[in-house]
Amino acid sequence: MKILVIGSGGREHAIIWKLKQSKSLPEIYCAPGNGGISRDARIVDIQSDDIKGLLDFAVKEKIDLTIVGPEAALAHGIVDRFMRKGLSIFGPTKELALLESSKAYAKETMRGLNIPTAGFEIFAEPDKAIDFTNRPRLFAAHYPVVVKADGLAAGKGVVICKDRKEAQIAIEDMMVRKVFGPAGTRVVIEEHLEGEEASILVVSDGINFTALASAQDHKRVFDRDKGPNTGGMGAYSPAPIVTRDTHKRIMDQVIEPLITGLAKEGKFYKGILYAGIMITKQGPQVLEFNVRFGDPETQAILPRLKTDLADLCFASIEDKIDRLKLEWEEKSAVCVVLASGGYPGDYQKGLEISGLEDADTLADGDSHIFHAGTAISPQSTVHSPQFVTDGGRVLNVVGLGDTIRQAAQKAYKIAGKIKFDKMHYRKDIAHRALKS
Ligand code: AMP
Ligand code: GLY
Repeated sequence: MKILVIGSGGREHAIIWKLKQSKSLPEIYCAPGNGGISRDARIVDIQSDDIKGLLDFAVKEKIDLTIVGPEAALAHGIVDRFMRKGLSIFGPTKELALLESSKAYAKETMRGLNIPTAGFEIFAEPDKAIDFTNRPRLFAAHYPVVVKADGLAAGKGVVICKDRKEAQIAIEDMMVRKVFGPAGTRVVIEEHLEGEEASILVVSDGINFTALASAQDHKRVFDRDKGPNTGGMGAYSPAPIVTRDTHKRIMDQVIEPLITGLAKEGKFYKGILYAGIMITKQGPQVLEFNVRFGDPETQAILPRLKTDLADLCFASIEDKIDRLKLEWEEKSAVCVVLASGGYPGDYQKGLEISGLEDADTLADGDSHIFHAGTAISPQSTVHSPQFVTDGGRVLNVVGLGDTIRQAAQKAYKIAGKIKFDKMHYRKDIAHRALKS
């Protein structure tokens, strides 16, 4: 069997690591991959948004299963294009990828299906959005409010505004100065929710769904949740905040109404549905939907999954989710992201990474090093590759343990062996779980 994984991050490396254990013994290809992935899969030199290039490759190579990492390819309709050629691909169609690629679509869908989410208004004209911020009372409360660019903005199009002035600047940045390009054609202004966040991922075949283990991401760049938002600086699974009762509420109030509500309109959601949830005093509320595996949540979730990942993907594609029962390791996992100095702003690439061999020696069956932004230096030899940095998030170290504390200790012990100039990482991943 031939499997193509699309993407180049730590999430894709974790997916490939998991697929390598599949009983179908697949030949794995990755487009475009990264330095570390090149040791585990055949690298295909096609970018993840080059849908025509990927389609031609999959047809020519007779790829049996394609798994898409990043959202852009899904938003551009890669699933529709592959399906038209009769290829098996794991993920939602372009129409349903709107749940991530348009925040306005996601919010209106939730409103229509009565799914708990922050109160909101959508604006297509900057003047009307500004007028709204001048109202004495927004929603049920005053500031802060959250201003969101409607379209995809690489995780950066969300601004939490503590007063009217900040809200107006955010609106003008998005709608007038177009700092996120066409993503700012419309904005969503929404109520600010208080609570703790959790990521709930389910796999659906359009009718039935099955939940993956819960996880929690750490979006801010510095310890104690300081500094700007990033793609994610670490994650752990399971997230103790998602108690059995909370999990049931999320399934009953969010996932089930969404999958069933869409199906009633003839829209069958396939693939991963990722709900970013704020656990508020009033119960779970949806912050956002993503239509793909989370990064870095996947790196903490997949090492705990015992079920064959290829089987899970085929169950979604072939409408057999109800026949699959997922099995999990009883262990906890903590993933620490090692990032380039300056990330999420500008950073240097091509810096030599040392200590990976020592780290590999320490990493036994209970830990993993997934590569995110790495490349193999042209100076290195086949037998001893020299990795260099090639992105903002460089490496993901995952520790497993009987408790979250043990898992974190393991991850940090391994992370401590790895070095590159200006490397930084959060020292407090899983702090909320450790406190509780
Ligand atoms: P999103 O891309 O919509 O998930 O937003 C990114 C991050 O912004 C979320 O993970 C939250 O930390 C924060 N955020 C988004 N919407 C809200 C909200 N309504 N209230 C509080 N925080 C929010
Ligand atoms: N970890 C957040 C995301 O994948 O969007």
